[in-house]
Amino acid sequence: TFGNSTNIVWHKCSVEKIDRQELVQQKGCVIWVTGLSGSGKSTLACALSRGLHTRGKLTYILDGDNVRHGLNRDLSFKAEDRAENIRRIGEVAKLFADAGVICIASLISPYRNDRDACRALLPEGDFIEVFMNVPLQVCEARDPKGLYKLARAGKIKGFTGIDDPYEPPLNSEIELQQKGAVCASPCEMAETVISYLEEKG
Ligand code: PPS
Repeated sequence: TFGNSTNIVWHKCSVEKIDRQELVQQKGCVIWVTGLSGSGKSTLACALSRGLHTRGKLTYILDGDNVRHGLNRDLSFKAEDRAENIRRIGEVAKLFADAGVICIASLISPYRNDRDACRALLPEGDFIEVFMNVPLQVCEARDPKGLYKLARAGKIKGFTGIDDPYEPPLNSEIELQQKGAVCASPCEMAETVISYLEEKG
């Protein structure tokens, strides 16, 4: 039994991940970008996608905000829906990686267990967690969509970091943080990630 389905048998095809990877000359993987709203996840995802694209690598971004316009349009921000949001994006990211694509998932994904469950879907080394370690005060001062202001005014309930939890990763592969008052540019941060990928082959 798989979930609620019974009598399901995995169907194998002779064209496998390894064949697709050979065709596109790259290794599919998932780069999972987590952090508070306003921490720069989407900006990093775009810069990373651009940097890899320029190097001839096929990428695809699964951005929480964007996926919530379609596949996840039925989900709210209550705990169980966030967990389902993370689970679905994890499963889709796995499919992209299986297709040979470098999939960049960019969503708050506030719960450690749910992120770890997505990690467990992939072979060792194919899930790279990138933690945007930006303090709440900085994200709130940026407030690019004015949502922190609304949350502080009580007009949005259950906003991550204000009245909803964020569990930072304990063992992320990469942690990006501001150095003192100085913020690395999106390009510099993307290069840090790309250097890591190159190092790991
Ligand atoms: S989650 O927690 O992973 O399911 O969230 P995600 O899919 O990444 O969506 C986060 C964006 O939705 C907006 N938004 C909220 N964020 C946090 N808490 C609440 N209650 C909320 N309501 C709306 C917000 O713009 C997030 O955008 P980002 O890109 O993270 O700034």
